[in-house]
Amino acid sequence: MRMVDIITKKRDGGVLTNEEIDFFIDGYVEGRIPDYQVSALLMAIVFKGMTNKEIVHLTDRMEHSGDVMDLSDIPGKKVDKHSTGGVGDKTSLALGPMVAACGAVVAKMSGRGLGHTGGTLDKLESIPGLNVFMEEKKFKEILKSNGVAIAGQTGTLVPADKKLYALRDVTGTVESIPLIASSVMSKKLASGSDCILLDVKFGNGAFMKTREDAKKLAKIMCAIGNSLNRDTRAVLTSMDQPLGFAVGNALEVKEAIDTLHGHGPKDFQDLCYQSGAIMLEQAGIAKDEEEGLKMLHKVVEDGSAFEKFRQMVIAQGGDVSYIDHPEKFPLSKHIIEVKASKPGYVKHIVALEIGESAMRLGAGRETFDDVIDMSAGIVLRKKVGDKVAKGDVLCVVHTNKDDYESILKDIENSFTIVDGFVDYPPTVHDYIKG
Ligand code: URA
Repeated sequence: MRMVDIITKKRDGGVLTNEEIDFFIDGYVEGRIPDYQVSALLMAIVFKGMTNKEIVHLTDRMEHSGDVMDLSDIPGKKVDKHSTGGVGDKTSLALGPMVAACGAVVAKMSGRGLGHTGGTLDKLESIPGLNVFMEEKKFKEILKSNGVAIAGQTGTLVPADKKLYALRDVTGTVESIPLIASSVMSKKLASGSDCILLDVKFGNGAFMKTREDAKKLAKIMCAIGNSLNRDTRAVLTSMDQPLGFAVGNALEVKEAIDTLHGHGPKDFQDLCYQSGAIMLEQAGIAKDEEEGLKMLHKVVEDGSAFEKFRQMVIAQGGDVSYIDHPEKFPLSKHIIEVKASKPGYVKHIVALEIGESAMRLGAGRETFDDVIDMSAGIVLRKKVGDKVAKGDVLCVVHTNKDDYESILKDIENSFTIVDGFVDYPPTVHDYIKG
C-alpha cells in the first residue's frame, strides 16, 4: 500500500477502506508517513468529507493508537461530558460535582485552552496546589472515594490525535466535521466512560459557525459513540455570547462556586441543570430528566454539590481555603469598568472578541509556552436581552497589563446595542438523544 494512492483516492472523492485508514493512522503514529503527506490527505478530507462508516473506523483506530483507560472496576456507570469549546465555559467545574453529589461517577478528562477558548485544566490550576496530572491509579482512587475527578489526559492516550491535532492547527484543517468528530470521540472513548454527553457549540465563538453544521457534527458524534456501545447524546448550545458572566481562570472558578451555592448566572445555571439531568438519566440514577432536575436542585440547596467540589479540590491537592473564601483569589492590578455609550437592549456580544480580548489581557495563551495570568479576564454585567441605559456598566475588565486601552475599545465594540426589544435566547437549542 502507498500513501500517495490513498491521498489521490480521497482527492477524487473515493471511500477509504478500513485497511487504508489503518495504514495511514498507524504509519503516521509510528513515524513512517511524513507530515506533508498526512497534510495532503487531511486537506482532501476537508474538501471531500468521509462516509459515516469511514468516520467510525477512523475514530476506532485513533482510540486504539495508545492506551485505553479501563474504569470497569469502579462500580456504577461512569459518565463524561465534553464541550467542543467555548468562551466562559466553566461547565465541568460545577456540573461534575453536581452530578456526582446525586450518586453518579463523573470521570472527566480535560484539555488546556489555546487561542480564544479557555481550558478546564487552566481554570482548575488557578486554585493553588491543585494537581491535574496524576497516575491512572490515583485518578481511579479519587473516583472511587469521591465520585468526581477532573484530570489532564496523559500523553499515552490517543497519540494519533495529539499528532494530527497539532498538524491540523497549522495546515488549516481544523474545521472539518469528520476530523473534529473523530478527534473528540477518540479521546472520549479512550477515557473509558460508559456514557457521554456532548455540548456542541455553534456561533461566532465556536468551531461550528451555524446551527445546521453543529447538528451534523452532533449527530455523527452520537452515531460513533452509540455504534461503539457508549450511550452518547448531545445538546446544541449557542456561542453567540459568552457563557455566564465570567471569562478568565480564577474569575470562572469563583463563578462555578457561586453556581454550586445556587446563585450563578441564569444561562450557566440552566445549562448545568439541563445537562446534569440528562447525565443522571444516562447513568440510570434518575428515571427521567424531570427526576434528574429535582435531584440536582436538592444537592445544590442542601450544600452537598458544593461539598463534592471541596472534596475534589482536597483530593487533587488544592488549597480548599480558596474555595471556602473565594475572596482570597488575588485580584488584578487594574479593574476597569466598560460603559454603554447609548441606551437600548443588548442584541449580541461577540464571544470570539471577548475570548480574544481576555487572552490579550493575560487570561489565555497564544502559544503553548505562554504563562497565564490567573486573575485576568472580563466579567460581563449585561447579557443578550438585557436593557441598558447610557453609562451602565457593560462589563468589568481585570488585568495586570498596563497597556490595556486598545483592548477596552475592542471589548466595547463587541457589544451590539439596539433600540428595539430583544428576547432572552434559549440555553439549549436542540437535544440529540442518539
Ligand atoms: N476539539 C477537539 O478535541 N478536536 C477538534 O478537532 C476540535 C475540537
